[in-house]
Amino acid sequence: MQTITSPQTDIAQSAPAQTLTEPEASAELRVNVIAVRTRHTGAARWHRGLARVLLGGLAIQLFFAGLGVFGVTGFLPHAILGSIIILTSFALPILAWRGRLGSALTRRSWLLAALMITQGLLIDAARISHVITALHPVNAMLLVLLTFSMAI
Ligand code: HEM
Repeated sequence: MQTITSPQTDIAQSAPAQTLTEPEASAELRVNVIAVRTRHTGAARWHRGLARVLLGGLAIQLFFAGLGVFGVTGFLPHAILGSIIILTSFALPILAWRGRLGSALTRRSWLLAALMITQGLLIDAARISHVITALHPVNAMLLVLLTFSMAI
């Protein structure tokens, strides 16, 4: 019977190379493929779930902006939730990268994190120009659209 050297997959990186019979090798390969798929679907599920949570957070954030605009609460709740949303959004690119969810999704996740940072910086830009700060609600729209694209 033909013998096969076990491939070094990322699942069994630490295992030493062994000599396997053909059926053993194909069984091991099947197990590894299932393990990689399970890990990928797990990360994908977490990624989509987190995008949905962020989308809900953004909806509340828009409501908090409305409360501030109409003088109900001031902007403190908006500033606090905004900071939480921005920090939480960094988990998306990390999940996409570590879970190997593909370059397109990973790029979009990094873009979202970058736009989140920009969202805070646009408020600080008031020191330079209020016209730049006026892009804060426009960027909010981009945040919602991009998050929605990853939540569906
Ligand atoms: C939905 C996405 C949004 C996020 C993640 C977000 C995030 C933030 C954050 C983190 C701050 C505090 C920044 C700082 O103190 O340096 C802030 C402030 C502010 N946001 Fe937003 N924002 C969003 C949408 C909006 C919208 C749609 C408006 C439109 C009215 C708005 C109006 C403001 C204003 C006026 C402030 C300044 C509040 C102050 O003077 O302390 N934001 N936002």
